[in-house]
Amino acid sequence: MQTLTITSPDDWHLHFRDGDMLKETVPATARCFKRAIVMPNLVPPVVNAQMATEYKQRIMEAVPAGAEFEPLMTLYLTNQTTRQDIKDARAAGVTACKLYPAGATTNSDAAVEGIDALFPVFEEIMQQNMLLLVHGEVTEAEIDIFDREKAFIDKYLQKIVSTFTDLRVVFEHITTKDAVDFVVASSDNVAATITPQHLLLNRNDLLVGGIRPHNYCLPVLKRNTHQQALRNIVASGSPKFFLGTDSAPHEQHKKENACGCAGCYSAWSAIELYAHVFEELGALDKLEGFASHYGPDFYGLPRNTSTLTLIKQEWQIPTSITPPSGEPIVPFFAGETVSWKLQQS
Ligand code: NCD
Ligand code: ZN
Ligand code: ZN
Repeated sequence: MQTLTITSPDDWHLHFRDGDMLKETVPATARCFKRAIVMPNLVPPVVNAQMATEYKQRIMEAVPAGAEFEPLMTLYLTNQTTRQDIKDARAAGVTACKLYPAGATTNSDAAVEGIDALFPVFEEIMQQNMLLLVHGEVTEAEIDIFDREKAFIDKYLQKIVSTFTDLRVVFEHITTKDAVDFVVASSDNVAATITPQHLLLNRNDLLVGGIRPHNYCLPVLKRNTHQQALRNIVASGSPKFFLGTDSAPHEQHKKENACGCAGCYSAWSAIELYAHVFEELGALDKLEGFASHYGPDFYGLPRNTSTLTLIKQEWQIPTSITPPSGEPIVPFFAGETVSWKLQQS
């Protein structure tokens, strides 16, 4: 039997949600990841140290007995965020701050309008040695949805990274060759996360032969040349690009809807999906760096000391998952065959 053993990985971008849903999402992630950067786009969003501390506590209560798992918390930036909020968050152990342009994605209505107004806050994030995580899409109505990532680089991100040269910035869930090129050309303080869906799929998988709501996420899937650029960069082993699933559950009825939600729930198959892609690329030797080394290195955290083993074995991703709420979720890549499986200890 062929196996692959790597340092235990971490997930540098995901959505656990809250309440009963934590009993579903936290075990799914703790199954194979030791740490995760937890997105703050709850309703209401996690905007201060106290909310982050309480949310972390609720997540910890959902960690299965015996599992070793640490949630790394983030603060949701708004136009009301102050420098004191950043200092307090740092003191409370919050790892990073998340910038959502208002209206860019799920639960981002409270987010930032006029990014320049936040520059004093970015300076404080830099001084506190925290990280800035960015959902990099503009929201101006006249900008085509497929161009919104590139427009964000040109209009905002370039300026942020050139103004705050010591600020560590993670360009989250990148989807375009433009984003790859930007990160490659930027300083070592700029990195990016890449999801399984943006490596596996392109916009044909969303729109050809009928609309596939379970492949709808934000930033939206792009044309295949962009997908190829993402695949090439992970296969290259560049340490500026690391694992962030963006696992983001939405109930089936909210995705199969006249106005379907954006987000793919991939936690139960996350590391397997990445292994599948790296094998397709003939780059399995690069999986460990991407999944387990480059993320903690960039965040300035120790790499995990335990290991995880994958077995070469085909299995099918379930077509439905029922969380404690009883409302089914269709997982990402449902019904598809994946070529690697996590060895259960
Ligand atoms: C995410 C969600 O559902 O919270 N959705 C998505 O399509 N990625 C939000 C996000 O990461 O932008
Ligand atoms: Zn996002
Ligand atoms: Zn996300």
